Amino acid sequence: MHESFYVTTPIYYVNARPHLGHAYTTVVADVVSRFHRMCGRQTCFLTGTDEHGDKVVRAAKQEGLSPMVYADQISDLFRKLWPELNIEYDHFIRTTDPAHAKVVRQVLQKIYDAGEIYFSEYEGAYCFGCERFYTERELVGGRCPDHKTIPEAIKESNYFFRMSQYQDWLIDYISTHQDFISPERYKNEVLAFLREPLEDLCISRPKSRLKWGITLPFDDQYVTYVWFDALLNYISGLGYPDGESFKRFWPSVHHLVAKDILKPHAIYWPIMLKAAGIPLYRHLHVHGYWNVDEGKMSKSIGNVVDPLELKNVYSADAFRYFLMRDMVFGLDSSFSETALIQRINSDLANDLGNLFSRSLTMVHKYLRGVVPKSDAVPESSLDLDVKSEAFKDVQAYRKAMEDFAFHKALVAVWGFVNRVNKYIDMTAPWELAKRKSQHKQLQVVLYNILESLRVIAGLIYPFMPRTSLLMQEHLGMPSAHTFQKLDDLNVWGKTTPGTKLPKTLTLFPRIEWERLQPLEQASAGPKEELVSVKPEISMKVFEQIDLRVATVLHAEPVPRSKKLLKLRVNAGEERTIVAGIAESYQPEDLTGKQVVIVANLKPVRLMGVLSRGMVMTASDNGACRLITVDGPSEPGTPLS
Ligand code: ME8
Repeated sequence: MHESFYVTTPIYYVNARPHLGHAYTTVVADVVSRFHRMCGRQTCFLTGTDEHGDKVVRAAKQEGLSPMVYADQISDLFRKLWPELNIEYDHFIRTTDPAHAKVVRQVLQKIYDAGEIYFSEYEGAYCFGCERFYTERELVGGRCPDHKTIPEAIKESNYFFRMSQYQDWLIDYISTHQDFISPERYKNEVLAFLREPLEDLCISRPKSRLKWGITLPFDDQYVTYVWFDALLNYISGLGYPDGESFKRFWPSVHHLVAKDILKPHAIYWPIMLKAAGIPLYRHLHVHGYWNVDEGKMSKSIGNVVDPLELKNVYSADAFRYFLMRDMVFGLDSSFSETALIQRINSDLANDLGNLFSRSLTMVHKYLRGVVPKSDAVPESSLDLDVKSEAFKDVQAYRKAMEDFAFHKALVAVWGFVNRVNKYIDMTAPWELAKRKSQHKQLQVVLYNILESLRVIAGLIYPFMPRTSLLMQEHLGMPSAHTFQKLDDLNVWGKTTPGTKLPKTLTLFPRIEWERLQPLEQASAGPKEELVSVKPEISMKVFEQIDLRVATVLHAEPVPRSKKLLKLRVNAGEERTIVAGIAESYQPEDLTGKQVVIVANLKPVRLMGVLSRGMVMTASDNGACRLITVDGPSEPGTPLS
């Protein structure tokens, strides 16, 4: 039987749309799952949504929806986002799935029957944002450390899980299982926390206060605390207790989380498993935070980064590469679109893209696009160590991938990319091509280059699966539609001589910097006349402008800007457009309005918000009027 590998992401709350942070963890899970498949393991990748609790009830209420309808909508956004980012999960779990609720009740009953749950009155400081009680010691200046709000004093009877009894056992377990929690700093953080007395965990909420949850199996007046419910997804998603998948994959489980949810995963979860008599998880991998503008992403600051918009502008693979290359797993990182573009232009368009297209162009130009023989002359004189460098880098890559040092793995791959670029410069195939007597040398050099590209295509597969397969197809590989095994990257000579290669292609176009200039800056030149004289254009030019009807779904001010509003519109598909209409319209007046947009304008970033398209207005003496349609129209209807 194949070795197995099981990776999970947190299940995300459905109280807000997916953002950059969610995308990062889920991309990491996809990368490791693909890597382990390359190593010949059978993998299972679980993600999903966390749908119960007060947070969701409140968010649904704000939208005027029932919790279930609201959860359906947001869960769907997550589920549909992942394939857009080339993420292939095996199972998407929702905590509202009946099968999940059944497992939660089963486990609760088991722990209850074992006498590890008791009923008691409790009075304490409760943070509604975190949905939990805080001890005095945990509060910072009397406030919730996360939400900075003053918790409310609540007194109620509830069910408690005897977590405190497991404190010594947990300290011992973590201390003697070195790789249970990594990186090391997070293990130390947990051990430091466990130096103080651990309290029992309140695992119920009275239905009089919260109905949206899983009813306790031993008291129907209470629902389960959302964390006790959510953590169990990792086993219910495998069909615990009897499912084949549970038996196969649970022993090799790797949980991925960010540092925000270290405590539930490093303390509650192992104790829950122990109390329920379920073997503990193998590893908890903890990563840092993506910050924006040196701070946390937050809806109120208006700096939440939408992964779908980035994907639409830059491509899923480029976005994935950036996430994995620019964050050191475990540490915080700062997101900026400028850094993203620099990475795309230098690493992807320049180093990799140029290497690929210049190599294939030479094969077409000098060998009519046919893969040459590898053994036309004894190889050693023309090898220049490119082969041994490849093997060395594959080893470094494997080690880094196993250590979750993804940036190092990519540094190893790019070390090889640059080595091959140098190999081309040193062997100068264009010089060899000038002399018939050197034709055999030319063949060997080009063969080595094609083999190098095959190895590179294989190595980038976990990070950029689409690009990897596209490269393989253009290298004429018979199994271009599937990934190569890691072992295949440790051998030389798999490219088949005589294969006719398809035409070359541009893997990553360079990103033009101009398109990022803020509108306010770009229009800082001389003021134009109100009615400017513009040149006549042909119908053909006019037809290139994609004018469409769009319905405004939501509008809000752009922070720190007097003129700009951020509009979420449905223009056949959803997108964000920034419009300079804040001085003439209130955001709340815009919802439901139908406007006319230019849909194919190059995206620009305005005051930190990516705008895809332009809303058409008529401006007269500073006042601006939206152009609209004379009756309801289907969103996305083209104007003619
Ligand atoms: O905590 N940088 O859900 P959640 C990096 N439902 N990653 C980030 C991030 C950031 N700025 N922000 C969020 C929950 N994440 C619970 C989990 S699991 C049984 C229950 C990612 O929607 C990261 O993975 O708040 C973090 O741990 C997770 O989203 C929190 O997602």
